[in-house]
Amino acid sequence: MNSPLQDILQAHVSRGPLPAAEVMALALYHPEHGYYRRAEGPWGFEGKDYYTALDLGPLLGQTLAIRFKAAWERLDRPSLFTVLEPGAGRGWLGRDLLQAAEGDFGAALRYVHRDDNPAARRAAEEALAPWLATKQARFLNETEPVLPFVGAVMSNELFDALPAQPWRWDGQRWVKEVLTEGGPEWHAGEACEATAWFESQTDGLELGDGSIWCEALPHVVKELTSPLQHGLFLAIDYGDQASRLLAKGSDLRRFTQHSVDGAWHEQVGQSDLTADVDFTRLEGLLSAEGLQELNHVDLSRWIRSHAPLMDWEQGWMELPTADRMKRMENLLQLTMPGMMGARFRVLEGWKS
Ligand SMILES: C[S@@+](CC[C@H](N)C(=O)[O-])C[C@H]1O[C@@H](n2cnc3c(N)ncnc32)[C@H](O)[C@@H]1O
Repeated sequence: MNSPLQDILQAHVSRGPLPAAEVMALALYHPEHGYYRRAEGPWGFEGKDYYTALDLGPLLGQTLAIRFKAAWERLDRPSLFTVLEPGAGRGWLGRDLLQAAEGDFGAALRYVHRDDNPAARRAAEEALAPWLATKQARFLNETEPVLPFVGAVMSNELFDALPAQPWRWDGQRWVKEVLTEGGPEWHAGEACEATAWFESQTDGLELGDGSIWCEALPHVVKELTSPLQHGLFLAIDYGDQASRLLAKGSDLRRFTQHSVDGAWHEQVGQSDLTADVDFTRLEGLLSAEGLQELNHVDLSRWIRSHAPLMDWEQGWMELPTADRMKRMENLLQLTMPGMMGARFRVLEGWKS
């Protein structure tokens, strides 16, 4: 039997081909049945679909505390340093950050969780309870405006969860992926910003080259950077430069039960869909919004350049063996070749 969302999708497709980005939008954000709008959370290890860097332990949050403290110092130690986290999910990164922040910086830090995912919100209420009680942390609905603030915008795997449209070079023209009653097909696209961009990509194209186009990206970038008066923009995500994504033929990915495939049109609402982030385009949009010093590096390099690894390892010697092993594993996952830290990138920009 079909799920309610599958029926809704079939009704759409019976009226004509539906672009893959619209399938992704329904699959993740249908108000009642979308993967990120349903009652039970999808994250974690056993019995879940995928995990993120936060599931591995607190070291990412601890490194962010160090990075944000340096940003706070650069801003001349303002009495309030607000960290806005769009796509904050369960609030674990906020929790790890608040837990690690100390002294005057810790006193200045305020954390704002922004994510309308109901299951994630419930988990975040628990994770952030001590700081919600002292008003150091708070929730902001996605429909509420973000008031101007000084501090930072941080996100982990927000941009890869925005609906994105795959495009391909078929040897003669650019075509986009759509869902029809017979399954996925590649159709010519109408004139739009995406077609104009793809048509400008002519260098050394080979059959099957292609990439994804996220329609909402300019809007999301503007919404997040406008209220940031001064400070750091930091996004952790997977993806690459535009030219590498094109050469790879980047497509939508489906995560279900910790396995990944390209069946984006199957089991809609029951499994996660993600797209690579085009860091070249993201950087360009951030630059247009006035951000400077834009740069992205892989997560493992970013961790190694900000975290005091020797001091940490020294400190862990005093922990019980099981806890010490967990910290070591967290560190290896974030810093070793082939592990999570090598697959993700950290993009930073500064607003003066
Ligand atoms: C892949 S999950 C990542 C969650 C969390 N950051 C983590 O690492 O576990 C993506 C989250 O982004 C949220 N999201 C998508 N678009 C958003 C937007 N425009 N503003 C805020 N949250 C958004 C979804 O509801 C979902 O909870």
